[in-house]
Amino acid sequence: MSHLDSTAPAPAAATGDARRDDEVVLSARNVAKSFGSVQALKTVNFDVFRGQVTTLFGENGAGKSTLMKVLSGVIQPTSGEIVLDGEPVRFASTTDATRLGISIIHQELSLAPNLSVRDNLFMGREIKGPTGIDFAEEARQTQADEALDEPIDPLTPVEDLRLGQQQIVEIARALSVNSRILIMDEPTSALSASEVEVLFRVIRDLKSRGVSIVYIPHLEEALTITDHAVVLRDGVMTAYAKRADIDLEWIVRNMVGDNFDLGSPPTGHTIGEVALAIEEVSVADVNVPERSVVDRLSLTVRAGEIVCIYGLMGAGRTELWSASPGACR
Ligand SMILES: Nc1ncnc2c1ncn2[C@@H]1O[C@H](COP(=O)(O)OP(=O)(O)OP(=O)(O)O)[C@@H](O)[C@H]1O
Ligand SMILES: [Mg+2]
Repeated sequence: MSHLDSTAPAPAAATGDARRDDEVVLSARNVAKSFGSVQALKTVNFDVFRGQVTTLFGENGAGKSTLMKVLSGVIQPTSGEIVLDGEPVRFASTTDATRLGISIIHQELSLAPNLSVRDNLFMGREIKGPTGIDFAEEARQTQADEALDEPIDPLTPVEDLRLGQQQIVEIARALSVNSRILIMDEPTSALSASEVEVLFRVIRDLKSRGVSIVYIPHLEEALTITDHAVVLRDGVMTAYAKRADIDLEWIVRNMVGDNFDLGSPPTGHTIGEVALAIEEVSVADVNVPERSVVDRLSLTVRAGEIVCIYGLMGAGRTELWSASPGACR
């Protein structure tokens, strides 16, 4: 693990041997960004490695999205520079960045909700036929799009899709422009566990084709696909490490700082008798009855105790609490 001072030279030099073999394709050098009196980024150095996944961790408001927007031409830095393939570049807009192979999937969906999946995928890059737009070919390619994985009718308006499906369409659209650097800003926030698996398969496939990925995780799910991990805190890069050298504790400690304490249960009150006991409860998926959304779960809640149920969307939390005794098996 290495702690990077915000005023340190470019990270490739600052972190030495560990990164010598890794080829940097895109860098932010001494990038700062202010919004009025808010200093969102304070002289950050950040590298993206060719054909690898760089994961950017940080608490809410740490500056992650701001840094990614600078790297993809959405906003311009207040100071500092962007270096692509060793050359300083300036992006006046996302069009400049897209032309050079950099695309971004935003935290907030940017689809046109009243347009179909097909029209969203091909907006701005319509397939032309002899008599105008070749809608049939666009629909065929939409159906064949591997990123969409589960079949989605190309003509469905995006607003009729589940949020997770909309996010998959957003991802498919970013992939469709043949990016060589793909920035994903919390792409899993609305995905179910199985959709996250699809996304990770797509990411591994992109990596094998030499695409560089910057990934801002929603939760620690990113540990399975990370090659390089970077942590931002209050607009300052606080840590860099390779995947082999980190664990969840490393991430949390660097995200929250030296006052790291996962907390301890409040004291001063007594925990009483078991008020609720759940034993080996399974709940069937309403759509696929042979599948369990909750699988043999046991849990006790005592009087005076707060029990948190944690999980990604689709993990079965809602189903657990809304299950009636009759729905359990
Ligand atoms: N357009 C803007 N105008 C003013 N302040 C902004 C703007 N964009 C971001 N900020 C501020 O800059 C800081 C960093 O925001 P940013 O969105 O980059 O954080 P983040 O790490 O992506 O957080 P989150 O995890 O919530 O997505 C925050 O204090 C935020 O309020
Ligand atoms: Mg953000």
